[in-house]
Amino acid sequence: MRLEAQNLTKAYHAHEVVNIKNVTFGSGGLEGLIGPNGAGKSTLMGLLTRRIAPTSGDIQLDVGNGVHKLNPLKSHEVARIGLIKTNQRIQGFDSLTIKDSLRLAATPPKDEGFASLFAKERDSDEIEAKVAQLVEAFPFTDRNGYAMSGGEKKLVDILRCLIAEPKLFLMDEPTAGLPDDITRMVMDMVRQKVANGEMRVVVVEHDLPMIWEYCDYVHFLSEGSILFDGTPEEVKSNRVVAEKYMGV
Ligand SMILES: Nc1ncnc2c1ncn2[C@@H]1O[C@H](COP(=O)(O)OP(=O)(O)OP(=O)(O)O)[C@@H](O)[C@H]1O
Ligand SMILES: [Mg+2]
Repeated sequence: MRLEAQNLTKAYHAHEVVNIKNVTFGSGGLEGLIGPNGAGKSTLMGLLTRRIAPTSGDIQLDVGNGVHKLNPLKSHEVARIGLIKTNQRIQGFDSLTIKDSLRLAATPPKDEGFASLFAKERDSDEIEAKVAQLVEAFPFTDRNGYAMSGGEKKLVDILRCLIAEPKLFLMDEPTAGLPDDITRMVMDMVRQKVANGEMRVVVVEHDLPMIWEYCDYVHFLSEGSILFDGTPEEVKSNRVVAEKYMGV
């Protein structure tokens, strides 16, 4: 598994918000991407998943069946190769029940619509079993109804991604808006899937104790550039990270 970008830049007008010579994700089990507010973490994830067009640079993805060049692809095509991202801010889901949102994300697309992330044929019994398993794993207010709160919408967004069986799963601030116990349930489920070899994960978070606990490897982004990568211990004790982010 390898997601790689070279000479990746993004500028809004004259303001360059991402400028990365080279970065690779997917080689460690569960990777963290940390950095100050406005560092460019969400923009980088948007670039990697082709939701945001780069100003320059190349992106390649290898999920085990050869190298895909992502630059010419649309974000739903990238998703079907297996690179899927959650959202930092949630909108939508008001017109669909929790289970219908998951069914839609799991159903093979009939056309080029964005609703389905899923690549392969699956029969409806298999989808129903998966939907039930995911929804029952979490304490929703009404498992047969609608997401009731911002936290429940956030959780539905994460479960929509998981039901599509990503090979590389990018999570943008999963803990923001979720109660601590639900965050742990999500991260434990994700860690289990990583341990089973079902997927690799990159998680963007400001909750550093969560990063240190769950991540095998951490990338530090500041002012649009990756300044350091290493194990949690190495990142914790890195002087640049401390100065620029941890307020030391
Ligand atoms: N559509 C846009 N137009 C102009 N500037 C943008 C746009 N999107 C992001 N930016 C700017 O790019 C920079 C990086 O933003 P980004 O959201 O990627 O940061 P982040 O690291 O995810 O921050 P946070 O931790 O607060 O989520 C910020 O200065 C932001 O204001
Ligand atoms: Mg962000």
